[in-house]
Amino acid sequence: MSLDGSVVVLTGSAGALGSALARRFAEVGCAVVLSDVNRSALDTQVAGLGKEFPSVEVTSLSVDVGDPQQMENLIQHAQDAFGRVDVMINNAGVLNSNGRIHNLPPEDWQKTIHVNLMGAVNGIASAVRSMRPRGVGSIINTASAAGLTAWPYASAYGATKAAVIHLTRIAAVEYARDGIRVNCVCPGTFRSAIHDGLPEEAMEAMAVKHPLGLGSPADLTDAYLYLAGDGSKWTTGSALVVDGGYSAP
Ligand SMILES: NC(=O)c1ccc[n+]([C@@H]2O[C@H](COP(=O)([O-])OP(=O)(O)OC[C@H]3O[C@@H](n4cnc5c(N)ncnc54)[C@H](O)[C@@H]3O)[C@@H](O)[C@H]2O)c1
Repeated sequence: MSLDGSVVVLTGSAGALGSALARRFAEVGCAVVLSDVNRSALDTQVAGLGKEFPSVEVTSLSVDVGDPQQMENLIQHAQDAFGRVDVMINNAGVLNSNGRIHNLPPEDWQKTIHVNLMGAVNGIASAVRSMRPRGVGSIINTASAAGLTAWPYASAYGATKAAVIHLTRIAAVEYARDGIRVNCVCPGTFRSAIHDGLPEEAMEAMAVKHPLGLGSPADLTDAYLYLAGDGSKWTTGSALVVDGGYSAP
């Protein structure tokens, strides 16, 4: 079934993957509700998308995904603009600073949990409040291959992404009878601002571990289209790995 006319809410929309997702869902005719904590990047994104896809309906709200009230406001904003939410993509994420467990400051853990885990929790909770009365919806969380395999120096990141994968499974079971499917995507590494500050050698070492090399955001977007639409109507609780073969060995 076509996604044309579906209402898609997306967090972390101004980042590398978020921007690619916004463009791809706009391209197939969805109305998009964009959100990011970075308000100026969000404004630039909305202006650009409006120019590129003049017929697509776009609205936005700057939110911190770790704040439950702000996520409620985001879903209410979508409801007010389009009357419903068909697809919720919990995509905002941060990487902890580069260091082993004993060197990671508690604030680093708190921030990573706040954005990566609580962002997905809040996104699910707010989206299902809107989706349950209609008995239909698809929620997609951005997890990571780092939630499936051990990435040294990224303990908070990997632990929160593993938690997102398990949260996805639990939510899938909790909301299946409400007609809501919940899945996640586990990307391998693609270059984005998340890696700012990482030495180039670290990126090169990551590239070597991906049999197909590092990916790009565009390599991931169709996995989200698949999970959003009816082509995946019997798929829930899944962790779709799109990682250039990183986790295969
Ligand atoms: N880049 C990779 O190699 C990679 C690999 C696997 C998974 N991921 C995941 O993909 C998703 C997108 O990351 P990206 O690589 O595009 O990075 P990015 O930094 O380009 O985008 C992340 C976006 O999230 C936003 N954000 C951060 N904190 C937020 C908050 N509290 N509330 C709302 N928005 C917030 C940022 O402003 C940014 O626009 C993340 O969940 C990330 O963990 C990335």
